[in-house]
Amino acid sequence: MIYPITLYGDSVLRAKADEIVEGEIDVKELAEDMFETMHSADGIGLAAPQIGISKRIFVIDGSMLEDEQMKSFKQVFINPVIEGESGEAWDFEEGCLSIPHVRGDVSRKSVIKITYFDESWNKKTEEYDNMRARVIQHEFDHIDGKLFVDYLSPLKRKLLKNKLSEIMKGKVDVAYKVKKT
Ligand code: NI
Repeated sequence: MIYPITLYGDSVLRAKADEIVEGEIDVKELAEDMFETMHSADGIGLAAPQIGISKRIFVIDGSMLEDEQMKSFKQVFINPVIEGESGEAWDFEEGCLSIPHVRGDVSRKSVIKITYFDESWNKKTEEYDNMRARVIQHEFDHIDGKLFVDYLSPLKRKLLKNKLSEIMKGKVDVAYKVKKT
């Protein structure tokens, strides 16, 4: 099932999402729906608040990318905890399905250690670096109510102000289903 994607300005994107209790919801079905929704929008990562569900789960699928590291990366992260971040911080221009046609450089550390449950409720602790780490950091932010635009410089944010307020009004031109508030 394809869900409409929530847009910048929707309060669900600013809430700290709730942990999922095992058995409370069918996480396999939810993850499938999230992958389907994300693929319909050509995204590589999607967090539950982006489909209006304030739960701590996100999915990543980089198989459509050329990047060696990303193209073999398809995973579901439930109740993730970032145990630590290390390495050099590096800039990369990020975007987000909830903030269409807006991009900006975000500085993030290159290595993360994360504990999470997969869709079969196996607990895992893993380390990721570079692009994989970045996508996880971006999606993890979503379940804490943070967005990549929060990291942009005050000047850049000022330049984007009109664009962001248009998105808040639901004035977006995208090929995927969005939820207008
Ligand atoms: Ni995003």
